[in-house]
Parts: sequence; C-alpha cells; structure tokens
Amino acid sequence: MADESKPETPAPKVVPQTGEATAAAAASTRAPAAGATASAPATGANPAATPHATTTAAARPAPPPRPPAAPIPDLAGKTTNVASPGGAAAKAAPAPAAKTTTRDADDTSPLLNRRAWMGLAWGAFSAASAAALAATGRFMFPNVLNEPPQQFKAGFPNEYGMGVDERWKEKYGVWLVRTPDDIDQHASGFYSLSVTCTHLGCTPNYLSAENKFKCPCHGSGFRTTGVNFEGPAPRPLERTRIVLAEDGQILVDKSRHFQRELGQWTDPEAFLKA
Ligand code: FES
Repeated sequence: MADESKPETPAPKVVPQTGEATAAAAASTRAPAAGATASAPATGANPAATPHATTTAAARPAPPPRPPAAPIPDLAGKTTNVASPGGAAAKAAPAPAAKTTTRDADDTSPLLNRRAWMGLAWGAFSAASAAALAATGRFMFPNVLNEPPQQFKAGFPNEYGMGVDERWKEKYGVWLVRTPDDIDQHASGFYSLSVTCTHLGCTPNYLSAENKFKCPCHGSGFRTTGVNFEGPAPRPLERTRIVLAEDGQILVDKSRHFQRELGQWTDPEAFLKA
C-alpha cells in the first residue's frame, strides 16, 4: 500500500520544443529586472522544464539604458508615406511659418513698408539705367544705308542699240544713251545721264513715244541729250564719267559728274566714242 503522506513525485514531462523555450526566455527577457515577475513561469510553459531559465533571468543584470532616439530626418518634399520610416513624422511636421514683414516705428506708409518702397525705387532705377545703356549701345551702331556701288561695268558696246537704255535706271540711277552724233562731242558713241531731276531731285520717266524724259513732280521735260526744254528745271541733266574698261566693257563711274552749263560735256570722259 502506498504511503499517502509522501509527496508525490512529479512525473517527468516532455521538454518543450525550441520555440516554447525561446518564447519563455523571451518573456523573461522582456520582463523588468525585478525578480518577482521574472521568476513567474510563462503561460502554458512547464516550470519544471525550464528552471534554469527563470533563475538565469533573475540573475541577469539589468540592460543598459537605451541611447536617446536619433533625430527624425527632414523628409519634407521627398517621396514617403506614413508607413515608411519617418513618414508619419514628416507628414505631421508643421509647415514653415509665413514670412512676416516688420515696419519701422516711424514708417506710416499705408500700403507698403519702407523696405518695399526701397525695393521699388531700386527696381525703377535699374530699369532706367538698362534702358539708357541700351540706347547708348544703339547709338554706337547707326543705321547703315546700303548705296549701290559708284562704278559698274555695263557690258560691251555691241550689246546696245541706238537710243535710251533703261536697264541701269533702278539699280544704278543712270540711263545709258547711244547716239550717232552727240551735240557737244560731234561723234557717235555713249554717254551716261543721271536720273536725278535738276529741279528738286525727283526721278523723271523716259517717254519713248515722245523720245524725252518727263519729270512727274513738276513737269520738267528733258530731251534725250539731257538738255532741259520745259518746266521748272533750271539746267540740263548731269552726265557721269564713262570709259572703256580693260576688258572692253563699258565702265560707268558715278563718282564724277559733268554739267553742260559749265562746259564739262566736252570732257573726254563725259562721252565714250564708239
Ligand atoms: S523735281 Fe522735277 S520738275 Fe520738279
């Protein structure tokens, strides 16, 4: 018969698996250093199976205090969300306060403070200075008047028939006239007539039907020789220098003019004999 006063020997139990032991150890680790709570067996764990765990946890020294948390990086403007590290903090970060302007004590301007007025004044001054500088630069580069060259080759003499040729009127401002007998040179050949009216400078037209030049401005008329015969023009049209170039072409030089009233139409360079 068994002795009932004898304490019953606890039956051996199965050692918990690694997971249970680890859970028990973790529970004991999470507990504070106070031995009372740390020595309590974990829920569902066999205290007989892990006696060393409770004793170890009780004897283990308290963990060192945690260092202070690192400052939360400023993630404003970066891609983040609440779930990401620092995202919630960034989202909750307050917006920068609006800039406030202060007025001086004696500033009584109703709309702008003194600093704003000074900024406006400096801006206007800078704009005026830039405009003046630009105008000065423009003055350094005046408009260029592209005049036609004073000399040009008018081709070979055999390319012209008798009479007035208008091919150079628009481009060079002269008529080339071929005559069998010039009134002053008394020879056959070429002369170059300026297309500028001697009254007030208009450009006459050549009227082939009447074989004359007629000024549209005030009605002056000129014969094909250039001599004026009607209207207010006070003197004949001017002739220009005309010579034969080295290559045999007619060379017209507008830099030199000849006036009949001055007896210049007899100059050898006022007429090209041909
Ligand atoms: S400008 Fe030619 S007639 Fe006056």
